[in-house]
Amino acid sequence: MDTLTAIASRRSIRGYTGEKLTDAELDALLTAGLQAPTATNRQELHFTVLPGDDPLLTEIQDNMGPRLRPHLSFWYDAPTVVFISGEAAFGWTAVDAGIAVENIALAAESLGLGSVILGCLKAEMLGERKAKYAAALHFPDGYDFQIAISLGHKAVEKEAHTYDRDKQVTIL
Ligand SMILES: Cc1cc2nc3c(=O)[nH]c(=O)nc-3n(C[C@H](O)[C@H](O)[C@H](O)COP(=O)(O)O)c2cc1C
Repeated sequence: MDTLTAIASRRSIRGYTGEKLTDAELDALLTAGLQAPTATNRQELHFTVLPGDDPLLTEIQDNMGPRLRPHLSFWYDAPTVVFISGEAAFGWTAVDAGIAVENIALAAESLGLGSVILGCLKAEMLGERKAKYAAALHFPDGYDFQIAISLGHKAVEKEAHTYDRDKQVTIL
């Protein structure tokens, strides 16, 4: 799949089959994250892979408070969730994490897999249990949660989001 097709066909997928990712698929997705550019080539991101049945996910869910979608877990029961943490003191970490997570999302789409970027756990990950989560997820010292992404085989379809080109674009 070429890059523009992957960008155009990617959607946030909020339902997954039980099929697990192969080692080769996971390797390709992580490689896409590692190949993302970082400011000054600092490479200040860390990728932690969790299976979708890891009890830590349920623990985070239970601590998050009321669900946005009561019938769904925040990771949509995907078979794999990747947590991206990054050096808290570096000024470009959030931007770099966003670029890396989109690289992973586009790689997933090009492999025929689904993904959804997960930000809703941010307040919980950075709240009073932050140190516990950082230890459990093996974040390097001084690294904070940035973003996560669910990955797996698509069980649902979704329409592309619409946008207002006139409102969002200025060509001078
Ligand atoms: C930074 C960021 C955080 C997001 N967090 C969540 C989330 O926690 N849960 C969720 O279901 N979708 C989340 N999304 C997905 C957006 O809701 C989705 O990208 C948007 O509705 C557009 O739909 P599309 O991805 O299908 O184009 C997030 C997306 C981004 C970029």
